[in-house]
Parts: sequence; C-alpha cells; structure tokens
Amino acid sequence: MQGCDASVLLDDTANFTGEKTAGPNANSLRGFDVINTIKSQLESLCPKVVSCADILTVAARDSIVALGGPTYTVPLGRRDSTTASLSAANSNIPAPTLNLSGLITAFSNKGFTAKELVALSGSHTIGQVRCTSFRARLYNETNISDSFATSLKSSCPTRGGDNNLSPLDVTSPTSFDNAYFRNLVSQKGLLHSDQQLFSGGSTDSQVKAYVSNPATFRADFANAIKKMGNLSPLTGTKGQIRTDCRKVN
Ligand code: HEM
Repeated sequence: MQGCDASVLLDDTANFTGEKTAGPNANSLRGFDVINTIKSQLESLCPKVVSCADILTVAARDSIVALGGPTYTVPLGRRDSTTASLSAANSNIPAPTLNLSGLITAFSNKGFTAKELVALSGSHTIGQVRCTSFRARLYNETNISDSFATSLKSSCPTRGGDNNLSPLDVTSPTSFDNAYFRNLVSQKGLLHSDQQLFSGGSTDSQVKAYVSNPATFRADFANAIKKMGNLSPLTGTKGQIRTDCRKVN
C-alpha cells in the first residue's frame, strides 16, 4: 500500500502482519502462484537481481498485451518492501460501494485525476468478481439492465454463493477491449462503482468517448497504468530484492 513495492505478496507469519487478510483482499486476490513460479525460475537463473515488484509490474503489462490490450514501456529497478500495512490496505483501497465522488477522491489521494480513474477502470474489461461484491447492486439498484440482472441471479442468489464468480465484462471477459465502456452505456456495469462512471455525472462524456474511440482508451489507459506502476518505488538502498516473494529475506 506504500507504492509499487510488492508488499501485497507478503504472507502473514507469527510476527509479521501482511496485507493479504485486509477486507478488500481476503478471499479475493489470486494468482500468487504465478508470481511465485516466475520468481523461483528467475532466482535459479539470475539470483537476487529481479525484484518481486518488477515481476508484478511486467506480468501485469504482459497479461494486458496477451489479451489484446495496449503495450507500454515499464521502467525497471523497483525494490521490494520489508514492511506491509494492513491498516492502509483496509482504508485506502476503494470499495465497490463508492459513489463517483468517493472514487474521484480515492484516486486523487494517490495523485490520479478523474480522467485517469475512468481510463484505469477500463481494466474491468477482464477479470472476475465475487457475488458478495455486487449482490446489493443486483437486487436493490434500478440503473441495471433487466436482462443482465436476471442472467446473474442464479449464480448470485440473495443468500449463499458469496464466492461465486462472474465476469466484470459480460460481453468479452477475456479480451482487453473497450466493451467495459459499452456495457456501462447499456447499464451492464457489474459493480456499483463501475456503473457510477456512467450515471448522469461528470464522467459520462468520457465513457461515451471511449465507446466511439477505442484508440483513445488504449492510449489513455497505457499512460495511466504506467503512472500507477511508478507510484513511490523503492530504489537505491531502500528495501531489498526478495528471494521469495512471500517473505522478507
Ligand atoms: C475504480 C476503483 C476500483 C474499484 C472500486 C474496484 C473494485 C474491484 C472489485 C470489488 C473487484 C472484485 C473483487 C472480488 O469480488 O473478489 C475487482 C476486480 C478486479 N479489478 Fe478492480 N477496482 C477498481 C479499480 C481497478 C483498477 C485501477 C484496476 C487495474 C488497473 C483494477 C483491476 C481489476 C481486475 C483485473 C480485477 C479482476 C481480478 C480477478 O479476476 O481476479 N481495478 N475490482
């Protein structure tokens, strides 16, 4: 939570509290095995050179490219934290229940504009969400397409099934495209926070612009995620290069 320093990868131990059990992360974050495998392969080929923070940043870029999204250069040389902050993870990660003003504030607190908020939210063109993260929208909100809501209710009932997954982008869940924004215009945003970006407020026009001009979305997204990867990196003698992403050396 202090920046792009791989603190999120640290496991809890008897005398160390990490961020994995924070409310927004617990039972949600996944794919740690992929990072750990990359790390162990790098450590056997070239020990103590590539940090876990650099692995995460490059893996994010390469995953976006593999699914058809834009490419961008990733400056390297981040070092890994020796600390983590459960309290910051609990308080700084924006909740899916936030309204537009809350989302804008959360991003502004980290130095991002409202325009960058909308561009970065376009990453919800891939990935999956647990029922518990969108149940209230499904059953209580009115700015949701009827057919879309109906299609989700069997895997996300009013009770039970909290961890059942649904795609964030109902139309093309494994393509990094601008369908997320088209979905918002048809009231098919899965999270309350997603639909907030197109609900009669100041960001509606940008959502529409990304629908009609996918190249603008690609360019804006690439710039914004590059900026996110450069948030307060540890360099020089700060931090360390972990040999195992799950624990400090
Ligand atoms: C705008 C504020 C944001 C909110 C409120 C938000 C909220 C969420 C929530 C609640 C989930 C699902 C968690 C679960 O049910 O387990 C999720 C998943 C995801 N989010 Fe966001 N998110 C935001 C911004 C972002 C940004 C900036 C990115 C990346 C640039 C991002 C990338 C993803 C991805 C890829 C997934 C799917 C993960 C998977 O399939 O395991 N989100 N987000």
